[in-house]
Amino acid sequence: MDIIFNRRSIRRYKKQAVEQVKIERLLKAAMQAPSAANQQPWEFIVVQSKESLRKLAEISQYSKMVVDAPLALVLLGNKDRMKSQRHWEQDMAASAQNILLEAVHLGLGGVWIGVAPLQDKMDIVSKQYELEDRLSPFCVISIGYPDEGQEHKFVDRFDPERIHYEKY
Ligand SMILES: Cc1cc2nc3c(=O)[nH]c(=O)nc-3n(C[C@H](O)[C@H](O)[C@H](O)COP(=O)(O)O)c2cc1C
Repeated sequence: MDIIFNRRSIRRYKKQAVEQVKIERLLKAAMQAPSAANQQPWEFIVVQSKESLRKLAEISQYSKMVVDAPLALVLLGNKDRMKSQRHWEQDMAASAQNILLEAVHLGLGGVWIGVAPLQDKMDIVSKQYELEDRLSPFCVISIGYPDEGQEHKFVDRFDPERIHYEKY
């Protein structure tokens, strides 16, 4: 699949809004991810308001790009949906990757902004959205149409030294 190889983190976006049909497609891709015991612990906050984007940009010095994004998705794990609690972050990571890959497919670009397991960042998001304890913020993904010079392109990371056949 070419998009796996060409996907890059996109941190600058055109002003153009992301169409609702594409937002729904991203969320559908997110919910197609594999999860432990098929628990599908995810929930999503779709953020388009300038004020909310500005607040999300304050999560850390590495999330500043969110303020200029037309869209951000906040990924949450819902403890009430978890049968295998210890696996929730792996489930959420698979969902996040699906979003990033579908974004490429739709002509968009995004970047994963890490939140969990860093409690201070999780608290910032929980406070912003007044989340109940059963909801754990996992990450934020800012998304938009890539700005000039922000294209997806192949970077070769293949390293045969990392591969061990049958024994290490
Ligand atoms: C768990 C995780 C947390 C990340 N957090 C941030 C972040 O806070 N800010 C950011 O700009 N990029 C963040 N990234 C994106 C990485 O910096 C990026 O994936 C990496 O540099 C490789 O570049 P690529 O995505 O273009 O292949 C994060 C990625 C992961 C998987």
